[in-house]
Amino acid sequence: MGTYINVDRYPDTSYIKIPTNPLDRVIGQNEAVRLALIASRQRRNLLLVGPPGVGKSMIAQAMSFYIERPKEEIRVVHNPSYPERPFIEVKTLDEIEKEKHEMNSIEGEIIDAKDAPQNVAERLGYKCQHCGFYSPPTDNICPNCNNSKVVNNGQGPFNDVFNVIGVTFGINNNNDRVTQTRKIGDREEIIVYEKYGDKIRVLDERTLERRRKLEKKSPSKIIVPIDRNPFVLATGASETELLGDVRHDPYGGHPQLGTLPYERVVSGSIHMAHEGVLFIDEITHLGNLQRFILTAMQERKFPIVGRNPQSAGASVKIDDVPTDFILVAACNIEDLQYILSPLRSRIVGNGYEILMEDSMPDNRENRLKYLQFIAQEINMDGKIPHMTIDSTDLIIEEGKRKARENHKNNALTLRLRELGGLIRASGDMAIEKNHKLIEKDDVKEALELYVPVEEKIKKYYGSMHNALGEESTGSQKGEYYNYYNYNDDRSYK
Ligand SMILES: Nc1ncnc2c1ncn2[C@@H]1O[C@H](COP(=O)(O)OP(=O)(O)OP(=O)(O)O)[C@@H](O)[C@H]1O
Ligand SMILES: [Mg+2]
Repeated sequence: MGTYINVDRYPDTSYIKIPTNPLDRVIGQNEAVRLALIASRQRRNLLLVGPPGVGKSMIAQAMSFYIERPKEEIRVVHNPSYPERPFIEVKTLDEIEKEKHEMNSIEGEIIDAKDAPQNVAERLGYKCQHCGFYSPPTDNICPNCNNSKVVNNGQGPFNDVFNVIGVTFGINNNNDRVTQTRKIGDREEIIVYEKYGDKIRVLDERTLERRRKLEKKSPSKIIVPIDRNPFVLATGASETELLGDVRHDPYGGHPQLGTLPYERVVSGSIHMAHEGVLFIDEITHLGNLQRFILTAMQERKFPIVGRNPQSAGASVKIDDVPTDFILVAACNIEDLQYILSPLRSRIVGNGYEILMEDSMPDNRENRLKYLQFIAQEINMDGKIPHMTIDSTDLIIEEGKRKARENHKNNALTLRLRELGGLIRASGDMAIEKNHKLIEKDDVKEALELYVPVEEKIKKYYGSMHNALGEESTGSQKGEYYNYYNYNDDRSYK
């Protein structure tokens, strides 16, 4: 928003304009938004540090909006002389287009059966030789004169017999294509007519030649498609999800029974994020896997191997699979120390570390941003009505109270996930009472429901300590659910 508008004249939040650009929907994080924009344009890494619910994921996600679409597709290609070492093939958009064109060109020309030479139309089963009626070749009996459409093409003494059998069993005796020659100038050229549903496909010599070339090509499989999402979320990913795998084949590499190794290759998030953003929330939860991320960033490629030593995939390895992603990592302040230090230096060496804001000053401009936020949350939820401008005061008050909880006076909290929860709960209360808009008493009611359960426990048991003494068994003592947004009394931690 930024501009001062007279919202007091607005009856409710439905009149508030919501920005279309996803980064503009992030409120109160000006520096983070600015650097995220730079990072997406310049392809730099980002480390977002801050408390939960201040917009770290929101910013990372928004970046994909500003990132260029991928220009490369990655395939694994069968290696006939060493199937366990498939090749990697990187195709550009142009090359893919060209290939599509080639594929179309081997399609040949599709014509109407009536436009084919008569004897061809008869032999392929389109034209009835008795009455001249055209019907699809799947009809063995002419629907016009009820005679068999099957033609004796006179290529051997048994043809008639076979054709009769064929008709009986509903199969045409290999009458799927007819090869003829045609004269072009003083040159004779081979021309093939093939069944193609209701139509006939015509293949000339050049098309046939292209087909033969394509058939000789090694088969391949796309493991990173060109139309992928450039934003890849790798939070909580397992090793195989993150780094890729070669799936098990119960028949091993058995040449007849098994699937070829190249077909069993699956890419990991680090490969899918090639040319895009790899977003890892709570990066420290990756633990040891962090060093693989580091390698992938350093080398800009990372092999795919079978990761289960018991599996038939374990002997398969594909080198040099590209991983040219930008890393956007998030973590909270306490976990900062657990980020692998070379990884951190890698991020800073080509990017930015950002400390997210926890609150913003309580002034008119920022209150307007809060209104934008409320409108956004309501819009996003889609199930609740808008809020009267009067009632938004209560949300603002709660935002102020929460900022105070975190020792910021005269400020509005930016821990907005929780505040979003309050807005949704208020909406539910309004719905329950058939209100067309969220009213003050709906927000008040939601505020009561919204008290953290620790607060309720303290009221009920006197203290958290008492409650644990009464309820928990020995082994559970001292382990609490980390309700980390709840900060005003951490004495029990
Ligand atoms: N700065 C913000 N501006 C607007 N909305 C926000 C902001 N921060 C949080 N929100 C709202 O809260 C939701 C949760 O925020 P988000 O997932 O980005 O938090 P986070 O910082 O990634 O938290 P966590 O550390 O728990 O992953 C967002 O989807 C959005 O609805
Ligand atoms: Mg998050």
